[in-house]
Amino acid sequence: MELYDDLPDGVLVAGPGGLVLRLNTAGARLLGIGAAEAIGRSFGDVLPLVDSAGRDWWACTDPYAGLAIRTGQPERLLEVGKGPAEGCQLLVASRFRRAGGRVVRLVVSFRGAASRERAAREQAELISTVAHEIRSPLTGVKGFTATLLARWDQVSDEQKRIMLTAINSDADRVTRLLSDLLDVSRIDARRLVLRRQVVNLPEVVARVIAGLVAAGETEERFVLSSTAPLPEMWLDQDKVAQMVGNLVDNALRHGAGRICVDVAPVTVPEAGRGARLTVCDEGPGIGLEARARIFTRFWRAGGAGNGTGLGLYIVRGLVEAHGGTIEVDDPPAGGARFTVFLPAGRPPYEV
Ligand SMILES: Nc1ncnc2c1ncn2[C@@H]1O[C@H](COP(=O)(O)OP(=O)(O)O)[C@@H](O)[C@H]1O
Ligand SMILES: [Mg+2]
Repeated sequence: MELYDDLPDGVLVAGPGGLVLRLNTAGARLLGIGAAEAIGRSFGDVLPLVDSAGRDWWACTDPYAGLAIRTGQPERLLEVGKGPAEGCQLLVASRFRRAGGRVVRLVVSFRGAASRERAAREQAELISTVAHEIRSPLTGVKGFTATLLARWDQVSDEQKRIMLTAINSDADRVTRLLSDLLDVSRIDARRLVLRRQVVNLPEVVARVIAGLVAAGETEERFVLSSTAPLPEMWLDQDKVAQMVGNLVDNALRHGAGRICVDVAPVTVPEAGRGARLTVCDEGPGIGLEARARIFTRFWRAGGAGNGTGLGLYIVRGLVEAHGGTIEVDDPPAGGARFTVFLPAGRPPYEV
C-alpha cells in the first residue's frame, strides 16, 4: 500500500485493539518518529493529542469506547501532547469502521496547522489594529464632547468652534477608515466586481486633478502628459479614478513639489497591449526597505499621520483586479515614482 505514503497528509491506521497497523511517511515526518517503530504500539501513544485546554484528547473521545453510532470525528485543531513533535498543532480527523458494533479499524488523518494558525493570527492582529484605529479618533470625540457638556457655560465660542472642528474631522476620519475597510474586505474576499467600459484614461486623470484643484489645491502643482494613441481600454472607470486619486493624494500629502502624471501606451510580453500610468513627485521618495511594506495594510512611515494606511493596499488590489501590476521606485531626479501597468482588457460580454 504505497498509496498511503504518497498522501500529503499524515495517516495512522489502527486495528481492533487500538494497536497501530501503519503510519504513513507524511505522518511519521509530522510526528518526528520512524514509521516502523510506530507499528504495534497503542494509537494514543503514537499520536498523543491534547485539546486547547490541555486535556488528553483520546481519553475524552476514545473511538473504541464511544457510542456505537459514532462513525468518526470531524476535523479539529489539536496539539501533540508529548514526544518529539510536542507542541505541534495538527488538524486531525478520524473515521471508525465497525463490525458487529465493535470498532475494528480506526483511521486518523492529520496535517500541520502552521499556515492556518498563521492566518488566524493575522486575522486577530488585523482586528486589533482596526479596533485601535477606530478607538483613537473616538477618544478625541469623547474627550471634547465630555468637556463641552460639563463646561458649556465656561467655554468661549472660539473654543467651542475649535472643539467642534476637531470632532468633525475625527468623525470624517472614522467614516474614511470604514469605507476603506469595506474596500479592503471586498479585495480580500475577491468580491471586487469590475464594471468594464471604454475608459479615456487621460480624461479620468484630468478629472481627478480638476477635483483636487476645485477643493483648493494649486493648479500649478500638477503636470499631466499623455502619449497617443492608447489602445481601447476596457476598465472600471470609478475604480481607476479611485486608484489615480489615491496615488495623487499620496504625492500631495507625503511628497512635495510638482506632481507629474503620465499616461502612455505599452505592450507587455504576456499581458499584451495596455497603458502605463506613472505618478511622480519631488518629495523625499520611499526608502528601499519601506518599498516592500508600503502596499501592506496599515503601514505608514513614521507612525500615525492623517491617512488610514490602507490607500496603497487598496490601489494594488484595484490594479490587480484589472490584471495589472504596480511598482514603486525613485526616479534619478528624486521623489517617489509609482508605475501602474493596466492591460487593455476586453468588453465584459466577450469571453
Ligand atoms: N508619494 C509618496 N512619497 C513618499 N511616501 C509615500 C508616498 N506615497 C506613499 N508613501 C508612504 O507610504 C505610506 C502608505 O501609503 P497609503 O497606503 O496611501 O497610506 P496613507 O496615505 O493613508 O498614509 C504612507 O504613509 C507614506 O509613508
Ligand atoms: Mg494614501
